[in-house]
Amino acid sequence: MRVLVTGGAGYIGSVVAAQLAAAGHEVTVLDDLSTGFADAVPPGATFVKGTLRDCAAEVLSDGAEAVLHFAAKSLVGESVADPAKYWSNNLGGTVALLEAMREMRVRTIVFSSTAAVYGEPERTPVTETDPTRPTSPYGASKLAVDTTLTEFCRLYGFGAVSLRYFNVAGAHQAADGRWLGERHNPETHLIPNVLAGVTQGRPVQIFGDDYPTPDGTCVRDYIHVTDLADAHLRALAACRPGQHRIYNLGNGAGFSVREVIEVCREVTGADIGADVGPRRAGDPAVLVASSAKIQSELGWRAEKDLRAMAGDAWRFTVSRSQR
Ligand code: UFG
Repeated sequence: MRVLVTGGAGYIGSVVAAQLAAAGHEVTVLDDLSTGFADAVPPGATFVKGTLRDCAAEVLSDGAEAVLHFAAKSLVGESVADPAKYWSNNLGGTVALLEAMREMRVRTIVFSSTAAVYGEPERTPVTETDPTRPTSPYGASKLAVDTTLTEFCRLYGFGAVSLRYFNVAGAHQAADGRWLGERHNPETHLIPNVLAGVTQGRPVQIFGDDYPTPDGTCVRDYIHVTDLADAHLRALAACRPGQHRIYNLGNGAGFSVREVIEVCREVTGADIGADVGPRRAGDPAVLVASSAKIQSELGWRAEKDLRAMAGDAWRFTVSRSQR
């Protein structure tokens, strides 16, 4: 299948693009490189540097049959400081993409949604029918896209799947041996921050240890980026005209910040120090997904555990430091 991957030079988009290419799909990546890296695009893919607004129609005109849509701004804190950037990029950019898809009669789309649409959940694990009350413009903008997709499916016969990721982690070794992993700047995510601390000889900061959790630190549901990529390939095959399906994606098990740091100690062999600081604004105490729906409807299962995530993220970190 000819597939357009928007944001395919970013962390998750590049891993999915690599998996699509490995599965025999013809991949075009559209990315403005505002946060992505051209060297993360898989070797066999066509790469177009540009924005959704300027380039989506043109790149779709070469016979694309489906879109996997990752291009977005994704920092919760930044979204609170600069909401217009999030509404413009995440909602405005997506509407431009959807209009281009309508024009080019491409009606199949898999969208990168997020656990942030649920905000501070009332119960755990979170299911897809739980209330969506985002606590940041980032989460609100992604929820607005989910709503827009429902409309485009109903009105224009689009077939869409939204995947609501919980905490994505780990790295993927592509067929050509390269490691694809997180290269955010600034890096806000826990595992890459812990591992960067190992290479830089500094301790990790724990954002609060007074939460109502077993060890006082926040609990999250970590999912390996390779498992996430597998879910995208299944979602692509499951798109049906007129249907918008929404699935949570996680492991179904929660790990505290302290537990994650301990696993990072084990896989690196480093004596990682941890300093406890104040809470980070907007962090829910516990965020764990129920992935029962995607398991039963698409046959997806998480194959890789937290140790594999930390281990692969470490192999990626080491491969970067050897360049
Ligand atoms: N944390 C630390 N120290 C760090 C980094 C993170 O203690 O240096 C803690 C955070 O406070 C949080 C946990 O580690 O409790 C995980 O934090 P991440 O930044 O790795 O991930 P988040 O849970 O904040 O983010 C995830 C997704 C977002 C989504 C958000 C919704 O990555 O896309 O959940 O809450 F928006």
